[in-house]
Amino acid sequence: MKFLAVSGSTRTASTNTALLKACAAITPPPDMIHVYSDLARLPIFSPDLEGDKTPSAVLSFCHLISKADGVIICSPEYVHAIPGGLKNAIDWLVSREEIANKPIALLHGSHRGDDMLKSLSLVLKTVSDQYSDTIFERFDVLDRTAEDIQAFMHEPENDARLQGFIDAFRQHILA
Ligand SMILES: Cc1cc2nc3c(=O)[nH]c(=O)nc-3n(C[C@H](O)[C@H](O)[C@H](O)COP(=O)(O)O)c2cc1C
Repeated sequence: MKFLAVSGSTRTASTNTALLKACAAITPPPDMIHVYSDLARLPIFSPDLEGDKTPSAVLSFCHLISKADGVIICSPEYVHAIPGGLKNAIDWLVSREEIANKPIALLHGSHRGDDMLKSLSLVLKTVSDQYSDTIFERFDVLDRTAEDIQAFMHEPENDARLQGFIDAFRQHILA
């Protein structure tokens, strides 16, 4: 399976991005996680820029989504809500075909952030009929460094939880 992983944070030292990269590093082939890195390059969504005027960064993002068997999202909570950059990316997808049947599942990198998770869940249910709110795994990596997160995800218990998440997502995609 090829998964596209999208972090809701564009921060250089993002724990969410580091968690996704650590997951990518320990996912055994043939499964593969590609971590999307251009969220900050997506212009602010406007319906005026859809169709022929769709910006190239958005087309590249949509192409990556269309090639992926499933999308994994891992996001911080900003002011009890979805960070603007992530919501902007989702807004670009709403009236396009790539997202409508795309399997989507969430990873989470904090013991907090439940308001954001609830809101993101509602948004994803709306844009994709293949979003699963039962395939979910939480790793509390808040405030850790990327190196710490790599080591944390190599711990057998965390590695096993990630493999369980990937297995469940694979079953959902194949169902
Ligand atoms: C603008 C802003 C608003 C935030 N609001 C919340 C919040 O409402 N709830 C929460 O649990 N954390 C909040 N945080 C903390 C972030 O969720 C936390 O620092 C997280 O690790 C950031 O993710 P990152 O490391 O991937 O950038 C906020 C952080 C920022 C920068």
